[in-house]
Amino acid sequence: MADKHKNFIGGQWVEPSSGDYFENRNPAKQSDLIGLFPRSTREDLDRAVRAAKSGFEEWRRTPAPARGDVLRKVGDLLSTRKDEIARAATREMGKTLTETRGDVQEGIDTAYYAGVEGRRLFGHTVPSELRNKWAMSYRRPIGVCGLITPFNFPLAIPTWKMFPALVCGNSVIIKPAEDTPHTVQLLVEVLEEAGIPAGVVNLVHGLGEEIGAAIVEHPDIPVISFTGSTDIGSVIGQTCGRMHKRLSLEMGGKNAQIVMDDAELDLALEGVLWGAFGTTGQRCTATSRLLLHDRIHDQLLERLIDRAKKLKLGYGLDEGVDVGPLIHEASRTKVQEYVEIGKTEGTLVLGGEIPTGSGLDDGFFFQPTIFTDIKPGSRMATEEIFGPVLSVIRFSDLDEAIHINNEVKYGLSSSLYTRDTVSAFRAFQEMDNGITYVNAPTIGAEAHLPFGGVKQTGNGHREGGWEVYEFYSETKVCYLDYSGKLQRAQIDNYDASPY
Ligand code: UN1
Repeated sequence: MADKHKNFIGGQWVEPSSGDYFENRNPAKQSDLIGLFPRSTREDLDRAVRAAKSGFEEWRRTPAPARGDVLRKVGDLLSTRKDEIARAATREMGKTLTETRGDVQEGIDTAYYAGVEGRRLFGHTVPSELRNKWAMSYRRPIGVCGLITPFNFPLAIPTWKMFPALVCGNSVIIKPAEDTPHTVQLLVEVLEEAGIPAGVVNLVHGLGEEIGAAIVEHPDIPVISFTGSTDIGSVIGQTCGRMHKRLSLEMGGKNAQIVMDDAELDLALEGVLWGAFGTTGQRCTATSRLLLHDRIHDQLLERLIDRAKKLKLGYGLDEGVDVGPLIHEASRTKVQEYVEIGKTEGTLVLGGEIPTGSGLDDGFFFQPTIFTDIKPGSRMATEEIFGPVLSVIRFSDLDEAIHINNEVKYGLSSSLYTRDTVSAFRAFQEMDNGITYVNAPTIGAEAHLPFGGVKQTGNGHREGGWEVYEFYSETKVCYLDYSGKLQRAQIDNYDASPY
């Protein structure tokens, strides 16, 4: 019998009120049942909201530097448990151990950044227009934050949301993807061990359409942060708009790596292999379009096919594996559908099949797949696939490449390989993305810089870096008039003014 896991509410590990559970299985080995996790209901959520509201009352009054100290301790504990958490993450979501170790490291970096931010949380002090009057602003916590997180960075993305929310003095309720509940459970254990007070962090497992939707609709959760698909993001956006909630969305991408004819091709080759096939292409920052300059198109393509062919598929905990499985059957079916579309829109030059044998039959594996002759504007060139499928598009000058980069509805990351500084700065300026890399792939965001995209990728907010602290706090403006008389702004100071 598999282990039954619990929710974490008000500082206690508790069973779901319904008594219902869902299975968490290893996507590389379906026969490996990791555990049973609570299929929570509205009743569990109400309990978590009550706990979070009372946790908030204490936590908001805890000095921000002391809140930061807890996060620093969290960083220390995550460092100690890095390998164990990375292994658990690989087991439940499939990417290689090297990658999940990077994922945990991103959480550690986010914890240490948040720890220090507890000593900053800058407001502003500005001169008043009136005499003997002081004017300033500071950042105030908001309340209970509902965090809905995806499977692909099962540790890092929860920390991007949770740690800044906590340092700002909020309490949180997190609902992790049903594919990766265990990694988030380990993260919550770390927070508990670091001494986070009861009710400040609450974990409620369950299905997106049930408990995720209930979080978004709950009147006592004024802040929602969601990472996932653009379609679900629109539904969440409608509810949050109607309820006047603060909402941060991180959604789809169709990121392009552009290789100019003056590029260092060895570097560009390594970049696209990692960008397109790392995490089995299941990143919002995955490279799903490779734009090759006419003059280097055939040469780089040939080398790419040769290298991609040799990528080793398998269980991410096994030595020498480069590419793990997809997360579940539905995402593999979606990839297969796009392969069929690709065959009508371009030429299949690698992969396109479900691999068999060598221990792959029990998992949701799919071969690294490359299509050439893809035309800008086609479905393969514009729609997010979220799998190991790369569309290669040919171009003849930088203007055309920038135009193709910008023609999609998404705008997360982009990458340009060139030796020319003018081209590099044109890319920074003209590519419609939240992040542009030069001579690096479309993935590689660092924890201390803002992360997010333009157009349908997001709704204007950023995670990471300094900007996310604005999302998780309200600006409060304070005036203190010590003149001892009524001073009317915009009026009294201007009586004597010649204007
Ligand atoms: C995502 O793609 O879903 O380098 C997040 C990056 C990662 C985070 C990616 N650190 O872009």
